[in-house]
Amino acid sequence: MTELLRHPECMKKLQDEINSVSTHNSNVTEKEVEKMDYLHCVIKEGLRFHPSGPLLSRLSSEDVQFKGYDIAAGTQVIINAWALQRNTAIWGLDAEEYRPERHFGSNLDFNGTDSKFVPFGAGRRLCPGIGFSLALSKLTLANLVKRFNWRLEAGPAGDDKPDLAEASGIDVCRKFPLIVYPSIIHA
Ligand code: HEM
Repeated sequence: MTELLRHPECMKKLQDEINSVSTHNSNVTEKEVEKMDYLHCVIKEGLRFHPSGPLLSRLSSEDVQFKGYDIAAGTQVIINAWALQRNTAIWGLDAEEYRPERHFGSNLDFNGTDSKFVPFGAGRRLCPGIGFSLALSKLTLANLVKRFNWRLEAGPAGDDKPDLAEASGIDVCRKFPLIVYPSIIHA
């Protein structure tokens, strides 16, 4: 929601897609959500740009060599998913920009098989909640965007974009609450 409010053109594109698929006045359904490609890209870009688990951790159970490094048994290895997902060599020169369109037709997926995109981790300790969280976040976002227009209160400096400050912790979330005002589109 924060990035969509920072990028009204993306919000409009998403709203247009949702309204073209979900043409009735009731809630967006799970079946309809499956047909929403841009919504999928929006969720993917959110997971790329703001992974809620930015640092993954593994304990090496035996001596291994990996990409020229000798990793002794018992070493704790920290994998920086945040940095991987902003790496220009992987994502292009606009890696530091929020751009859901980059995921159209892209083979890079977050199901744990590609070490370049790991918002849910990878390998045997991969997050088991992928299916549940995807279904829930898509459905929630689609309904929030279909049923309401969202308005921001301008900040003290006249800034009309919500801030991106993040709280520190293993699980990262916003530092300050996102305060927005809804107006009903579909009753
Ligand atoms: C957008 C939502 C979510 C994100 C971004 C997320 C992300 C992650 C990440 C990065 C890991 C570490 C994986 C690794 O080290 O390779 C993890 C582990 C885990 N997640 Fe999630 N998760 C989400 C939702 C959920 C939900 C909804 C559930 C349960 C219903 C869940 C249950 C777990 C469990 C049990 C683990 C530990 C797996 C293990 O260590 O074997 N997650 N998650």
